Amino acid sequence: MRIDIISAVPDLMESPFKTSILKRAMEKGLAEVHFHNVRDFAFNKHRQIDDTVYGGGAGMVMMCEPLDLCISKLKSERDYDDIIYLTPDGETFNQKIANTYSLKENLILLCGHYKGIDQRIRDLHVTREISIGDFVLTGGELAACVLADAIIRLLPGVLNDEQSALTDSFQDDLLSPPIYTKPENYKGMKVPEVLLSGNFGKIEEWRHEKALEITKLKRPDLLKDY
Ligand code: ADE
Repeated sequence: MRIDIISAVPDLMESPFKTSILKRAMEKGLAEVHFHNVRDFAFNKHRQIDDTVYGGGAGMVMMCEPLDLCISKLKSERDYDDIIYLTPDGETFNQKIANTYSLKENLILLCGHYKGIDQRIRDLHVTREISIGDFVLTGGELAACVLADAIIRLLPGVLNDEQSALTDSFQDDLLSPPIYTKPENYKGMKVPEVLLSGNFGKIEEWRHEKALEITKLKRPDLLKDY
């Protein structure tokens, strides 16, 4: 899969893709992430990418032309499944959306900075608007990293143990059960006996019960569709 990320400050997003699981996914050729700096498409005499808000008000708005040039260039090179604008007024991101995108070929993630982007770019190019939660970031860059991470880790071959993506919290509308590793006894706190029993039927049953119990306690809203 290929993800193109358009931003005025692509440096903000470098390290997540140069480290650990995402880095390995790129090295194995399972995912490609390409950054595009909007400033490279600023062709007016001041190489400007933002301007003041029509009608008055604080902050700067990212201008149409550089964004339009950048997106149009990418669109002329390949078909995109979606052009996603990261914005706090978009639909809230969740595991189902991540699952859907993990089956796609090409995505554009468009990051606003300053006050956001000119509405006409949303009308002209954007096919979906996504928020990562009810709070406002300085720009869409960190949100784009969140989406890319959640999507890329689902691609076949990215995680060593294929099972581990399937047993994530949210994957079946339940939170994850508690997990333990060595030692069996830490400061008097013991690993539940059933996990040492080798009885996989019983272990699965215990994990399911715990997952239900934790979900009821922490996120009862998830159980309404369960
Ligand atoms: N840009 C600024 N805040 C955001 C948020 N919460 N989600 C997505 N993009 C954003």
